[in-house]
Amino acid sequence: MNIRFLEESETQKGNPEKTEQKTTAGIFSLETAHTLYQMKVDEQGVLLHLYYGQKTDEDMSYRVCLFDRGFSGNPYEMRLTRGYSLDTLPQEYAGRGVGDFRVSAVECVSANGSRSTDLRYVSHTIEKGHAGLTGLPYVRESDDMEVLVITMRDPVIGLRVDLNYRVYPAQDIIVRSANVINEGDMPLVLEKAASACVDFLYGNFDVLHFHGRHCMERVAERVRLPKGITSFGSRRGMSSHHHNPFVVLMDRHATENTGDCYGCMLMYSGNHLEELEVDQTGSTRLVSGIHPDGFRWTLEAGEAFQTPEAILSYSRAGLNQLSHQYHDLIRDLVIDQKWQTQARPVLINSWEAAYFDFDADKILRFAAAAREMGIEMLVLDDGWFGKRDDDSSGLGDWVVNEKKLGCPMKELSEKIHALGMHFGLWFEPEMVSEDSDLYRLHPDWALCDPDRKPILSRNQLVLDMGRPEVVDYIFESMCRVLDAARIEYVKWDFNRSIANCYSGALPPERQGEAAHRFMLGTYELLERLTSRYPSLLIEGCSGGGGRFDAGMLFYCPQIWCSDDTDPVERLEIQRGTSYGYPVSAMGAHVSASPNHQTGRRTALSTRGIIAQAGTFGYELNPEKLTDEEKTEIRQQMEDQHRYADLIAHGDYYRLTEMDDGDDYEAWMFVSKDQSEALVSFVMTHVRANGQVPCVRLQGLRPNGKYQLDGTEKHLSGAALMHGGVVFPDIYGDYPAKQIYLKLIK
Ligand code: DGJ
Repeated sequence: MNIRFLEESETQKGNPEKTEQKTTAGIFSLETAHTLYQMKVDEQGVLLHLYYGQKTDEDMSYRVCLFDRGFSGNPYEMRLTRGYSLDTLPQEYAGRGVGDFRVSAVECVSANGSRSTDLRYVSHTIEKGHAGLTGLPYVRESDDMEVLVITMRDPVIGLRVDLNYRVYPAQDIIVRSANVINEGDMPLVLEKAASACVDFLYGNFDVLHFHGRHCMERVAERVRLPKGITSFGSRRGMSSHHHNPFVVLMDRHATENTGDCYGCMLMYSGNHLEELEVDQTGSTRLVSGIHPDGFRWTLEAGEAFQTPEAILSYSRAGLNQLSHQYHDLIRDLVIDQKWQTQARPVLINSWEAAYFDFDADKILRFAAAAREMGIEMLVLDDGWFGKRDDDSSGLGDWVVNEKKLGCPMKELSEKIHALGMHFGLWFEPEMVSEDSDLYRLHPDWALCDPDRKPILSRNQLVLDMGRPEVVDYIFESMCRVLDAARIEYVKWDFNRSIANCYSGALPPERQGEAAHRFMLGTYELLERLTSRYPSLLIEGCSGGGGRFDAGMLFYCPQIWCSDDTDPVERLEIQRGTSYGYPVSAMGAHVSASPNHQTGRRTALSTRGIIAQAGTFGYELNPEKLTDEEKTEIRQQMEDQHRYADLIAHGDYYRLTEMDDGDDYEAWMFVSKDQSEALVSFVMTHVRANGQVPCVRLQGLRPNGKYQLDGTEKHLSGAALMHGGVVFPDIYGDYPAKQIYLKLIK
């Protein structure tokens, strides 16, 4: 069993004063291969957090010391024990207004206006397996998983919370969520319902978070946690380019390969908040969930609210190990099983090649030229539907513009298939243009405040996905296009943040539900499409990587990483993304030089090596390539086939420390059996008469001998990991090198 509950009475058998005691107090131990997560129900029924970290066999409750701290009050029943305060005890799901002044996990207003919530343990169940959440994405079932549900209750307001813990032993992952139920007779208004709350009694932490902007997503930044509250989040109606719903708490001395690291990843694509509070005692509380700002969910008697899942993981060996745990989980249990083994097609996308300026002949010429170089799929991006020659019109009118194309989509798709290629199409399902038939017919289907002009962004409005009729309409119009032609891939875009998040379908007092209902509608649409077209590959996208999160990955096994296709910029974006997400999830393409976003010139080889650390593809006009470039692309395609499996399924290591001033970036993939590896190296600043870069490898068999491809050299894993590999003869702008290693004995 990986989940155990040891009743306190059992632990106290030797104590004569306690033998008569009938209590449900006890210790929960959740074990994974290397970690222990321990909680205690104390005699007041408060659920305390005892420990999360490297596995031990002990009862860790000795870590909790009662200490009378001024201005930290006591629950009434503990008024004589002044050291007992909810303000200083480590808790699993802290309420508000009852003596804990730190950030809370749940906030609720009852019918009489009281804002206090005090949850106490009622019961628990431990089971094998689980059915998954309804309406929300979830981490799928594994053979060895177990589920603990702890029921907590506040009898005064009739609020029940079922805390759900799913333990994935092999992956060293614990998934948390909460189901909040109104068991009283009067309505309750939920103002906050976090997915996870974890108290770290001891330790001094840095936080690694991932901020950014359009065209520069998930920049990793490590900051020392100050006393007080540090928070990251999004109120844009999307997980956002600006703050990813993933944070890592790290020991201040931790590095890529050493030290304690705790990850918390929210499986959600909408508004989110990650709060870290270092309190008066130096303890750190981490709370993650739907952003409470603007959130107000009315629970009528008997109604329940399910939070999204938060995926927790701990590594004692630094960030690379933590990343492997998340990568394995996402590859094995988040993305749909069929995409775990099936190779993703290498695609060419029409966007940077043609933008809105194309017809079927041009697209066919692209396809033919691309096929000749071995590329496997043509994706027709924005502009094929309604009235859409720029970004000012047409969204919502998912009807093929045969006049612009010059033929029906069926004909184009058949011609592309006749070349031996797959075919993919762009959609932006959740949006509508003011200048569209859909908006003219249903202006009320767009989110917008009454009596105000809408905030426009890229000339578009956002559909109210919380309305079932909107989801039905978009589903049916997408199906009409998908049924009429052979389409194996959809790029699912989302090109603005949501402002005016007001739904005409909800009464005034329920407007605080609109943003989450929007997400539920989007997830339902994705669910219906993936069920109806089980072999359709959906690539998520949001002006690049504005919705790069585990929620979208449940439906879309890959997500376009950024609209910035400059390879040098991509080094930072892809590195930041790699902390939580596997490279098999990151759409990365070779684009033209000079680059369309930065004007920077780079070698085709550099662009190829960097795009290879993702789901590989091209985003350029193949007709403009020279013969020499075409030959090089043919070689890239051969390399891609040779390394695709290693890249998609191997362990990924960052070989440089963050912000350490190196003039290069390096990373490697090592197969799970350590029999092969691929090292990639990019010089970001070539210096005259500079030091020869030497990169120490990771993850190899120390006693194994590896052959360095293309040379006669055989070196031991120990030499490669401790002595490193050297890259002499580096010259030019952003030169890149790749070394393939094969275990020979
Ligand atoms: C934003 C995407 O990220 C681009 O790749 C492209 O699809 C455009 N939208 C099309 O409008």
